[in-house]
Amino acid sequence: MTSTVSDSVAVDAAISSRMAVRAFTARPVPRETISEVLRVASRAPSGTNTQPWKVYVLQGASRDALVEKVCKVHDAIQANPALLADYKEQYDYYPAKWFSPYIDRRRENGWGLYGLLGIGKGDREKMHVQMQRNFRFFDAPVGLMFTVDRGMGRGSLLDYGTFLQSVMVAARGRGLHTCPQQAWNMFNSIILPHIGAGDNEMLVCGMAMGYADEAAAVNTFHTPRVPVEQFTTWLD
Ligand SMILES: Cc1cc2nc3c(=O)[nH]c(=O)nc-3n(C[C@H](O)[C@H](O)[C@H](O)COP(=O)(O)O)c2cc1C
Repeated sequence: MTSTVSDSVAVDAAISSRMAVRAFTARPVPRETISEVLRVASRAPSGTNTQPWKVYVLQGASRDALVEKVCKVHDAIQANPALLADYKEQYDYYPAKWFSPYIDRRRENGWGLYGLLGIGKGDREKMHVQMQRNFRFFDAPVGLMFTVDRGMGRGSLLDYGTFLQSVMVAARGRGLHTCPQQAWNMFNSIILPHIGAGDNEMLVCGMAMGYADEAAAVNTFHTPRVPVEQFTTWLD
């Protein structure tokens, strides 16, 4: 047993300062730091300690080559949307049919971000460019890919959530920022062979990691949250 963490200020700050950063500097992240983040995050809980996470760290040439491959396909889809049919996610991240209140929050988020970036409704070219920033890891020098064994159950995705958040919070403790990215999921057929994943592996998501570009307007985007009283039922 370890003692209580007395510094709630530091713990809360690490959690609260995490945000989806969408512009990074080129400043490299030492391998030792990435390894430490992953080691700390591996303390995340998982059902019967199954630890279903598997992480691929892409830097340098492997990162750049993946960016090039995926951006090329993304551009080809923009030119010929019929090609989209060849790229399918391996699990439903979002519902097939959206409904309130989630659709409203999604819209608020999307238009808030686009508004900040000066992207108007119907501005397909600018939307494409912004979407493609995902496939450049928002210029972060470190790209992470997370996979899970296909044989595992839905609960392993729950376990994965605890791990991903732990990665993002441990990153904050070291001055790093992150952006979790489901955008990559549709390109799993390109990504999995690129990273050398086995046939049993499914892509859970990607993540950009690095030092935030403090001057970038996109990083001033702060998202709201529903108040505790709205999502909590107190049963006394
Ligand atoms: C699993 C997961 C996948 C996400 N995928 C993307 C993505 O592909 N691209 C992106 O720009 N943001 C992505 N996000 C970031 C969310 O949009 C963001 O977390 C949300 O709007 C709340 O904002 P905040 O993280 O800044 O607090 C993802 C978040 C999660 C948890």
